[in-house]
Amino acid sequence: MKKFLALLLAMMMVLSLAACGEKEDAPAQEPTGQEETQTPEAPAEGGTVGVCIYKFDDAFMTTYRNALQEILEGKGYTVTVVDGNNDQAKQNEQINTFITQGVDALIINPVMTSAAATIIDTVKSAGIPTVLINREPTADEMAAYDKLVYVGCDAAQSGTFQGELILDTPNKGDINGDGKVSYIMIQGDPENIDAKLRTEYSVKALTDAGVEVEQLNLTRGDWDREKGQTICANDLAQFGNQIEVVFCNNDDMAIGALQAIQSAGRKVNEDIYLVGVDALDAALNEVQAGNMTGTVLNDATAQASQAVECMEGLLNGDTYAAGEQSVYVDYVKVTPDNVADFMK
Ligand code: GAL
Repeated sequence: MKKFLALLLAMMMVLSLAACGEKEDAPAQEPTGQEETQTPEAPAEGGTVGVCIYKFDDAFMTTYRNALQEILEGKGYTVTVVDGNNDQAKQNEQINTFITQGVDALIINPVMTSAAATIIDTVKSAGIPTVLINREPTADEMAAYDKLVYVGCDAAQSGTFQGELILDTPNKGDINGDGKVSYIMIQGDPENIDAKLRTEYSVKALTDAGVEVEQLNLTRGDWDREKGQTICANDLAQFGNQIEVVFCNNDDMAIGALQAIQSAGRKVNEDIYLVGVDALDAALNEVQAGNMTGTVLNDATAQASQAVECMEGLLNGDTYAAGEQSVYVDYVKVTPDNVADFMK
């Protein structure tokens, strides 16, 4: 018994020293008005954060994770960012490892939206404040845990903006004047709500405006540039001049599609329209050069700062009521008229 008490005392001393060490470099926190809810062990700035990204090899999520890392490190957090390699089983292990390591908070970009319920269960059991990003679970799934929030964008809005970019062209997308807009859709990973809603709402914007549409093809390109190129090349070979609009669920696929369009001797904004989403630097250059009709800003930096802000709120004791666990950052339409505002 004596030995046990001595061991316990020694462990408590080590723990309290570690806690002091952690708080040493942390800047004093501003009063937040949430002091009553603050738990005594809530870490000040300077805690540890585990960030899980669905895969590093994704153009938009690369910008996003770099922004997250920069913001978190700038605030004095110790950050570990891991690559899920598009493998949910691997990501589950990574989450468990972070939990075992005792991270103060988690920021997770799930590999599969359908795995959200399991992820939420895991972080809830461990009591880790968690911010989910980029792949939105259902409100019901999130309601299981009140120290959990989703930060992202309203995917339907980006789809609507893509449709509006086409409506804003001189012939509203009907280049050949046959009374309908014939398009191909190059879709992201359809398991993902961004892919589903962008596909649906881009076309809905046209039909809501009374424009007749004809879908020539819809193919999944999984957010990937090379797949975008192959799909567009195949569709151009099959449908040729019938294609008036190429809708891509993201910019990386649109850049790929542009290569196919150029190889086929077609000219964007003259005999074909091309739109994407994200406002990647490469896409902004193409919009400015007139090689893309437009894109939609998916603001990685704003989402990263919002995610960090929500994470800090959770660390300070914030909880979220069911049905109020999604925080959205607005999308912005990017056209040749305003593209310069988005270029660095
Ligand atoms: C979307 C983004 C895509 C891809 C996807 C991954 O929001 O537009 O480019 O990164 O997230 O889930």
